Amino acid sequence: MATPTQAFFDGFANADLVEADKAHYMHGYHVFDEHREQGALNIVAGEGAYIYDTAGNRFLDAVGGMWCTNIGLGREEMALAIADQVRKLAYANPFCDMANNVAIDLCKKLASLAPGDLDHVFLTTGGSTAVDTAYRLIQYYQNCRGKPEKKHVIARYNAYHGSTTLCMQIGNKAADRVPEFDYGNERIHHISNPNPYRAPQGMNEEQFVDYLIAEFEDKILSIGADKVAAFFAEPIMGSGGVIIPPAGYLKRMWEVCQTYDILFVADEVVTSFGRLGTFFASEALFGVQPDIITTAKGLTSAYLPLGACIFSERIWKVIDEPGKGRCFTHGFTYSGHPVCCTAALKNIEIIERENLLAHVNDVGGYLEQRLATLRELPLVGDVRCKKLMACVEFVADKRSKALFPEALNIGEKIHTKAQARGLLVRPMVHLNVMSPPLIITRAQVDEIVETLRECILEVADELSLAGQYAGQ
Ligand SMILES: Cc1ncc(COP(=O)(O)O)c(C=O)c1O
Repeated sequence: MATPTQAFFDGFANADLVEADKAHYMHGYHVFDEHREQGALNIVAGEGAYIYDTAGNRFLDAVGGMWCTNIGLGREEMALAIADQVRKLAYANPFCDMANNVAIDLCKKLASLAPGDLDHVFLTTGGSTAVDTAYRLIQYYQNCRGKPEKKHVIARYNAYHGSTTLCMQIGNKAADRVPEFDYGNERIHHISNPNPYRAPQGMNEEQFVDYLIAEFEDKILSIGADKVAAFFAEPIMGSGGVIIPPAGYLKRMWEVCQTYDILFVADEVVTSFGRLGTFFASEALFGVQPDIITTAKGLTSAYLPLGACIFSERIWKVIDEPGKGRCFTHGFTYSGHPVCCTAALKNIEIIERENLLAHVNDVGGYLEQRLATLRELPLVGDVRCKKLMACVEFVADKRSKALFPEALNIGEKIHTKAQARGLLVRPMVHLNVMSPPLIITRAQVDEIVETLRECILEVADELSLAGQYAGQ
């Protein structure tokens, strides 16, 4: 869409969006008290890396929606492609013996982009259903190959793998495990995440990797290697706080998986489709050839919902054994939706045509350099950034790395000040997380970093004045 006009925003002057939102719309991660009192920021337009609220206030969206608006909002050619597909074929049954040409084209394209022999694709409705599909596929595979005991899964603390009941068991963010929900699955286990900033005291990076590998092997052996089916890992953990693993970690974890016949599931819902300057990160950046990759988000740049579980020839050969009369009783009404698949194909075409991967490698490197300059500021304990995945972690004491009390909500304080200056950075308790669209420019990177700098300094002053920060 072209830059929205004042007349467009005038149309919302009398709209009762705030009250209607409070009355009827339960959000993901709905914070009841806050929403009841303050409502939400209602967004009505988007163009490139910017979004606009009802009053016409413009925000530089350094969060990229939710790690997902990769090619940027409001692209006319995407609108035309989607409209054209709606006219041609808005839906076709994807089950059993029916397919549609667009889903077929997309699966073929994904197989060509995915590393190694990941040639088989199950299309889903988003990231959570891709992770769910991966889990069910693993069960199916183990049963088909006569290993019904080999069903246990290992994942990491602080991982986020989606919001279905199963995904929430595989993921394990302390903040998500609220007492009002039930958790616990005896076949799902967790080990430490590879956050160098929070490595046990006195360990250098190499020792930390050795420690993590030993922990993984111990966990496998304590469960029984013949019982462990899969390891789930985001190559860089996103919602858990942009945790960039130390050199060699992911590859060594993968090697352990190979030793014990454990499938490596790379959850690339965030890290694929350009965010790290590659279509997929596992192999290109970490030298890991996964057995399964899950993806979503940047797959369509969020123009329409879609996800995929992409898996290996090795798995396919086992489940597709001729003459067994098997049926994979798993599927979604909207698997392979032709309009969503059109959006994915157009999105990939744009990423390729505009050389966005090369752009991310350039501008992402610049973001890494510029954000690192915030390290010297008060409150800033750590700055983590790999291409267009970034976060700033705030601490009460730089030496001990002690956090502020959660109730102080430091990330929220900084986010609120940034929002007032026209910048969105996602608050997550003691973090601000960023994942700007791939089209972000160097000038916009400067704006993000300088605005953050001002906000951090202001919050540090306010906390000092209130006696809540000693300034270490
Ligand atoms: C790594 C990862 N996996 C899975 C999901 C779930 O994806 P969705 O919200 O599309 O279901 C997310 C969402 O943020 C994610 O970050």
